[in-house]
Amino acid sequence: MAFSSALVPLFLLILLKDLVPARTVPLQQRLDKIKFLPGQPTVNFNQYSGYVTVNVTAGRALFYWLIEAPADVQPAPLVLWLNGGPGCSSVGYGESEELGPFRINPDGRTLFLNRYAWNNVANILFLESPAGVGFSYSNTSSDIVEVGDKRTATDSYKFLVNWFERFPQYKHREFYIAGESYAGHYVPQLSQLVYRNNKLDKNPSINLKGFLVGNAVTDDYNDDIGVNEYWWTHGLISDDTYHKLMASCVPHPSTNSPTDECFDVKRVAFREMGNIDTFSIYSPTCNTANSPGRHLLRGHHPWMTKAYDPCIGNYATVYFNNPEVQRALHANITGLNYTWELCSPVITTSSNWTDSPNSMLPVYEELIRAGLRIWVFRKMKSARDTRYFVEHAHPRLASKGSADPGYRVPCPMPSETVDIGSGASF
Ligand SMILES: *[C@@H]1O[C@H](CO)[C@@H](O)[C@H](O)[C@H]1NC(C)=O
Ligand SMILES: *[C@@H]1O[C@H](CO)[C@@H](O)[C@H](O)[C@H]1NC(C)=O
Ligand SMILES: *[C@@H]1O[C@H](CO)[C@@H](O)[C@H](O)[C@H]1NC(C)=O
Ligand SMILES: *[C@@H]1O[C@H](CO)[C@@H](O)[C@H](O)[C@H]1NC(C)=O
Ligand SMILES: *[C@@H]1O[C@H](CO)[C@@H](O)[C@H](O)[C@H]1NC(C)=O
Repeated sequence: MAFSSALVPLFLLILLKDLVPARTVPLQQRLDKIKFLPGQPTVNFNQYSGYVTVNVTAGRALFYWLIEAPADVQPAPLVLWLNGGPGCSSVGYGESEELGPFRINPDGRTLFLNRYAWNNVANILFLESPAGVGFSYSNTSSDIVEVGDKRTATDSYKFLVNWFERFPQYKHREFYIAGESYAGHYVPQLSQLVYRNNKLDKNPSINLKGFLVGNAVTDDYNDDIGVNEYWWTHGLISDDTYHKLMASCVPHPSTNSPTDECFDVKRVAFREMGNIDTFSIYSPTCNTANSPGRHLLRGHHPWMTKAYDPCIGNYATVYFNNPEVQRALHANITGLNYTWELCSPVITTSSNWTDSPNSMLPVYEELIRAGLRIWVFRKMKSARDTRYFVEHAHPRLASKGSADPGYRVPCPMPSETVDIGSGASF
């Protein structure tokens, strides 16, 4: 009798110990937990996804997908990942083609694992930004066309502040911001906003340690010269087109409006280049009318592994438009009246993105002085690659270490993408 009554408090204590941590997990975090994605293999990590409202009056909400590292490497740093465009999806590119754990099979219904996934070593937070990209939306339709760098940054910052309230276990965790291509603007601009707001806070919960950019749009003048040289020296365009590009398509550092002449020469340049993947010039392109990409790879490009399939974007479009997938991801809960796209046709074609400073170098200078760790990655196989950038803009950054001159994480070289993470030592 005495024995069993002594057990009761012990039992209660154990019960309470289990209950207390559960109680501190915000309800919305628990609701955001992904149980199982259609076609998903079993995994040893947790995932969460859903919406964070960034502007109540306009009704703007950004969609995120957090893919955690496995328990045995926790507590690992937190990394925010942003794709560029402007208008392209971090779910469609970053997660599904580049650094995320899940790759989509050609059936558009089943997933297989990417062994080089960054979430092997860090908790990766994919964000579709700005509103209008992927599942991120606004109830004020003019928001989708009246957007530029500044609002993208302030909305993303609002996202972070609200997201950390939903995921308090990540407050004060080592935090990095990463991205590629046009996110070469988003990443330093958001870092600057976090840095400046943190300065006003004695114990900031966003513990920003640094940022990483891959093949980033950084400085229009140097980027453009570099791209023109790359096309020319790789035999992709004629001498004549090269000279015309240099004459009419390199913006003076202080101005930034491409002329009609420039658009005409660019059109000629793209015609001369033909149907190639400008992000990876030695890779085959997706030719859906013929055989699937993977088939093509084996026959003609034996040096490439099956990890790269140029048609992968098509599978993502099928997968993420599947209503079952959307339910599992807690996405599209308001019934949007357009489909999910890799890149928003409205944002990418509106040519209304005028709020776009022509150089990020002043931001770099401020953040280098602030002591942030910055990693600039450029890869030699992309036509956006620019040896020129490294030699001409880089010295201004007075950076330590090396920079390897391209605009996207190279999916044909998955192991090298892991180096980006280890180079930043997380
Ligand atoms: C919300 O967004 C609208 C534009 O859609 C803007 O005018 C307004 O200032 C924003 N509100 C806040 C609190 O940021
Ligand atoms: C947008 O409108 C829908 C329908 O009225 C509503 O359910 C949703 O909460 C709104 N979104 C935001 C972010 O306010
Ligand atoms: C889609 O919904 C928005 C409101 O979110 C509305 O302004 C727009 O007109 C709708 N478009 C179509 C084609 O129905
Ligand atoms: C472009 O954005 C401006 C505001 O930034 C807006 O006044 C204009 O209507 C937009 N243009 C188009 C074509 O949507
Ligand atoms: C959202 O769901 C509706 C059906 O309710 C669908 O027609 C639409 O394509 C979906 N849009 C996105 C962006 O997922």
